[in-house]
Amino acid sequence: MNVPLLDLRAQHASIRDAVMARVQSVIDRQQFIMGPEVPELEEQIARLSRAKHAIGCASGTDALLLPLLALDLEPGDEVIVPTFTFFATAGTVHNAGGRPVFVDIDPVTFNITPEAIEAAITPRTRAIIVVHLFGQMAPMERVLAIAEPRGIPVIEDAAQAIGARRRIGETWRMAGETGWAGTLSFFPSKNLGGWGDGGMILTQQDALAERTRRLRLHGGTRQYHHDEVGTNSRLDTLQAAVLLAKLPFLAQWSAARRTKAVAYTERFASVSAVTTPSVDPANEHIFHQYTLRVPRRDQLLEHLKARGIGCAVYYPLALHLQPCFGFLGYRPGSLPVSEAATAEAISLPVYPEVSAEQQDAVVDAVRDFYT
Ligand SMILES: Cc1ncc(COP(=O)(O)O)c(C=O)c1O
Repeated sequence: MNVPLLDLRAQHASIRDAVMARVQSVIDRQQFIMGPEVPELEEQIARLSRAKHAIGCASGTDALLLPLLALDLEPGDEVIVPTFTFFATAGTVHNAGGRPVFVDIDPVTFNITPEAIEAAITPRTRAIIVVHLFGQMAPMERVLAIAEPRGIPVIEDAAQAIGARRRIGETWRMAGETGWAGTLSFFPSKNLGGWGDGGMILTQQDALAERTRRLRLHGGTRQYHHDEVGTNSRLDTLQAAVLLAKLPFLAQWSAARRTKAVAYTERFASVSAVTTPSVDPANEHIFHQYTLRVPRRDQLLEHLKARGIGCAVYYPLALHLQPCFGFLGYRPGSLPVSEAATAEAISLPVYPEVSAEQQDAVVDAVRDFYT
């Protein structure tokens, strides 16, 4: 049985009329840049994420870059980032003029640890980026307890965690709610994906909202008047229309992913070679990815592909070992928990439409490999 890693055509078939109507209305109006769908989506995402402001931009990468630019980093300024993440988390630090300081992760959740952050802080630390990897939040309350007394802003990279939440004290806190800035990606494969690139910045801070709104429009608030040098990083009206049509389904899609994840974990209980994902009891995971830790990962990957089972490795090389960051002087062994994860992690199909039979086929294929 063929099981793709993700089946966007199945999702599209289920919402075709709603999304086409929204897109058609943009086409009929012909207002492709900063049309009314953009602020409408910003308002809805702000409400979902309990943020005072939401600022649409061109990608999840730019959602990181614009707040980093707003920090006005000087050469040698440091930004602490996890090394086990998508490249953009650290690439944007470099492009904003900062120096990424890579830290290790928790082997259980794959998220950055407060202890590693604390150990990496120096007088040059200007920000901390926390990634809510694979759809579950890092322990923000513990990160903030370290960062806030030192006045260090925390950026939550919630590209994989839209709508994820964590119980802090008596209150559910949303991904992107409690940091200085939160960032979202609408890359098509995300839990809320557009028909191309898109991203959003979340913040409770009026000053940061104003600054990033300006930076995304070439640094000006009035056309052809530029207070500073920014860039062109708007969210397309067409993308906003697609996302507005999809947003009402996001909660049920993420709930379906959770159900599929539970089903996998139950089935994998009898496959002792694999370690299934752990959900921190304080978290509501949105399972952007269902990621196992396994021995002989690369051979398993080939075996699954040969059986028609979609799977992927997020991420095969930690960022501190990427050739482009060689100048920072990290060596293999510098951040061993992340390096182990790059050798052992494998993600399986967990999209909302994957069927029980398909999940059985995935589990059988993994079991067959280890028996
Ligand atoms: C953790 C993380 N950060 C940042 C990004 C960048 O988002 P985009 O691809 O929309 O630029 C992604 C998405 O690919 C991501 O997974």
